[in-house]
Amino acid sequence: MQLLSAIILVVLIFFSTGCVQDHLVVSAQIVYLQWYMHDTPYSGPNSSSIPVTGSNGSDFQTEVQDKFFGQIFVFDDPLTLGPSPQSASFGRAQGTYTYVSREEFVSYVSYTVSIRSGVYNGSTLNILGASQYLPGNKYAIVGGTGDFILARGILKEVVVNLFGNASATLSHHATVYLE
Ligand SMILES: *[C@@H]1O[C@H](CO)[C@@H](O)[C@H](O)[C@H]1NC(C)=O
Ligand SMILES: *[C@@H]1O[C@H](CO)[C@@H](O)[C@H](O)[C@H]1NC(C)=O
Ligand SMILES: *[C@@H]1O[C@H](CO)[C@@H](O)[C@H](O)[C@H]1NC(C)=O
Ligand SMILES: *[C@@H]1O[C@H](CO)[C@@H](O)[C@H](O)[C@H]1NC(C)=O
Repeated sequence: MQLLSAIILVVLIFFSTGCVQDHLVVSAQIVYLQWYMHDTPYSGPNSSSIPVTGSNGSDFQTEVQDKFFGQIFVFDDPLTLGPSPQSASFGRAQGTYTYVSREEFVSYVSYTVSIRSGVYNGSTLNILGASQYLPGNKYAIVGGTGDFILARGILKEVVVNLFGNASATLSHHATVYLE
């Protein structure tokens, strides 16, 4: 019932403003969400992700040759509504990524998207899957909390910017099927 009223509220807001930046509800069962994720490793005290195994980045070329195999990062990345890190906040992405291949760049991610703005403020989504940083990367949405209890869905990723070893901006489109 709480969920239903949230959806009705979203639809009302959508039609009353004619513009919703971070989400779109097309039916009572599907919610589309969009945000940008900013990952900043190897940047000293300003890092948003830190390696907890393997190298600290000082031998970057060797790590690249080895496809970062075996490295585990813990991250707390800001999520924004626009591509710029300075744009309005959507929330945080918190979890880990692990490089799982010596043959190719593949990281296995496991994290929670914690929404901290808009109508879904306080709800979370859990993301799981392997990424090859290729166009069309997809991850599974395997549940959530708040408005997304028992949700499932798919997260599509597009790499917007890769600044060498310094930072990356990823565009995320989530299709969430509600219970
Ligand atoms: C960390 O970020 C602050 C604010 O953007 C900047 O002034 C500072 O130089 C950065 N420090 C490092 C080590 O990059
Ligand atoms: C990184 O690790 C290497 C050896 O593994 C060490 O020589 C270097 O001082 C470390 N750099 C930093 C910034 O911790
Ligand atoms: C990151 O890459 C830049 C240029 O590619 C290099 O100068 C710098 O030393 C690298 N930083 C680390 C921590 O490896
Ligand atoms: C999100 O919810 C928290 C907890 O209720 C509140 O403190 C915060 O101000 C809200 N943020 C926004 C942007 O509405």
